[in-house]
Amino acid sequence: MTDTELRYAAMQVLKENDTGNFIKPAYRQYPHQWNWDAALIAIGLRTYDVPRARKEILSLLSGQWSDGMIPHILYPTGASDYFPIPDFWRTEGLPHGPAYPTSGLTQPPVLATAVRLIHKDATDKDASLAFVKEVYPKVLAWHRWFYAARDPEGTGLVAIIHPWESGMDNSTRWSEALSRIKLENVPSYQRKDFQHVREEERPSAQDYEYFMYLIGRYRDLQWEPEALYSKAPFLIQDVLLNAILARANTDLLMLGTEIGEPTTEIEGWLDKAREAFNERLWNHEEGLYFDYDLRAARPVQQNTCAALSPLYSGLPSSSQAQRLVDEHLSNPDEYAPGPNGQYYIPSTSKNSPLFEARRYWRGPVWININWFIIQGLRTYGYHDLADVITKQSLELVSKSGFVEYFDTRDGAPLGAEGFSWSAALTLDLLSELT
Ligand code: DGY
Repeated sequence: MTDTELRYAAMQVLKENDTGNFIKPAYRQYPHQWNWDAALIAIGLRTYDVPRARKEILSLLSGQWSDGMIPHILYPTGASDYFPIPDFWRTEGLPHGPAYPTSGLTQPPVLATAVRLIHKDATDKDASLAFVKEVYPKVLAWHRWFYAARDPEGTGLVAIIHPWESGMDNSTRWSEALSRIKLENVPSYQRKDFQHVREEERPSAQDYEYFMYLIGRYRDLQWEPEALYSKAPFLIQDVLLNAILARANTDLLMLGTEIGEPTTEIEGWLDKAREAFNERLWNHEEGLYFDYDLRAARPVQQNTCAALSPLYSGLPSSSQAQRLVDEHLSNPDEYAPGPNGQYYIPSTSKNSPLFEARRYWRGPVWININWFIIQGLRTYGYHDLADVITKQSLELVSKSGFVEYFDTRDGAPLGAEGFSWSAALTLDLLSELT
């Protein structure tokens, strides 16, 4: 496929998944609006249709809760055959809640970065500035919510209360913390996620028991932030989400400066995050960043793509970045092409005993992770490696289509077909090549 053909095919996927107001992550498998999907989709849209990119962001913001939280799933068009259905969450009518049904969880905050990228290249400067002024206070309110609700102790790192908040739902990072939870009174549920995707490529039955149990606990607490933080049986400072938040804060800072807003608060968040990444998340022996489990009061020592993700935040020193790249990303037993896999970047290190080549976030390659790491490599000057991962990502979508994830061993297609962020980020990667 030529670059032009690939670009056209990617735009077709977004067109087919477009409901008019928001783009579905995948037509059948994910028929509502998801939080980090929307931001990543907007990053791709901006390469050919800036007004449509802005509309995607405004649709996401329409689901913002009155306390500032932006939920992980928005159901503006009501129920579908996707499970959980809107009613399962019991978020309607909450005093701090949304204007229409949404989930009660949040997701990695790529939003500020998407807004900045949309604004950076826009040619209609007045309209662009008006857009930034409109959305800035809402994005700031979300970041404030993160620190108030999920870091009330002021550590500089925010916590997740459910694996779905990480976006890496069934990562090996969560297995140990979940196994400590005693399952009782799990709400009754019926999975619908095998209708369009093979069961062995989806999270396990055991994982779903924990996912549903936690939702049951939290809806009983009426999604009240203080109660959630103090009672959540799962409370983890996730490296990837915090790396994305730090990068988003850098982007928010630049936007704030441009529109003349005070930025000391954001600078404070970044200073604290830099210190906490070093002191709490960096593991000097391994040369990796690990999540911190607040309930167990210890790091989660799992080697996954998240351990490399601080590259994207720009927080590591150049020697820390070098260790991530030389000892891990470039290691054929872990993330680089080698005898056990031809494609960058498996979601779990190939030499982990928990690696599963075809199962969702436990091994397959994801285009968004490649995109985050590519951005990070460029920040630290590793342009040759960034080019290699870019070319491999484009090769994957050219040969296997815009699927949800890929087998690192041979690039085989996995998960949902016509996956929007695989298409959107292809557009962004192509625009960087030219
Ligand atoms: C799913 O349904 O698998 C989603 O990832 C939940 O957010």
